[in-house]
Amino acid sequence: MRNDILPAFQTFIAELRAIWSRESDTQKRMELGRDALEKLVRDPDLQAHSRSWPSTEGHKNLLFHTDADYGFVVNAVVREPGRFGSVHDHADAWTAYGVCDGCEYLERFERLDDGSKTDYADIKRTSTTIGRAGVCDLVAPWAIHAEQGSNQRSAAVILRSQVLVGRVLQHRYDEHTHVVSMGSGPTQIPYELRVG
Ligand SMILES: [Fe+2]
Repeated sequence: MRNDILPAFQTFIAELRAIWSRESDTQKRMELGRDALEKLVRDPDLQAHSRSWPSTEGHKNLLFHTDADYGFVVNAVVREPGRFGSVHDHADAWTAYGVCDGCEYLERFERLDDGSKTDYADIKRTSTTIGRAGVCDLVAPWAIHAEQGSNQRSAAVILRSQVLVGRVLQHRYDEHTHVVSMGSGPTQIPYELRVG
């Protein structure tokens, strides 16, 4: 990788590539990838760098890396104060989500109905984790969840097991009306973690 890219990020990508080359199981790759992400989002240089990232308001993600050999993707999301996310899944992809600045609320839901009615889901929130800088969450395929902002700006790095946007649609869930809809993932904005 080029020498004007943040060293902590270069180390992270090298670690991920080593994991992907020696492990073949996606869940195992992502469990180890979550540990590597945890190290990244606890890195003071990465945390400081993240304070300059642009907002991703308007259903966008910063796109840091798409691995040409292994297919994993590294994104970031930057929430404005008071930003609330929607309840959704990531279809068949695994996702590790690591907060690197500010504070977020990571919510998990369970489905109470049997899934037999089209466009309907009865969901109940089962947990809320406070995500401060350094906290990582691993989200399995089809797991229903939401990442909510707080009263301060927040930034998070996302590791996805595969490209999602443009390949498959994700479910969105309305907790109150029980309506399920399908939608594309966030717009990808290429962004380099340059130093100097
Ligand atoms: Fe998500």
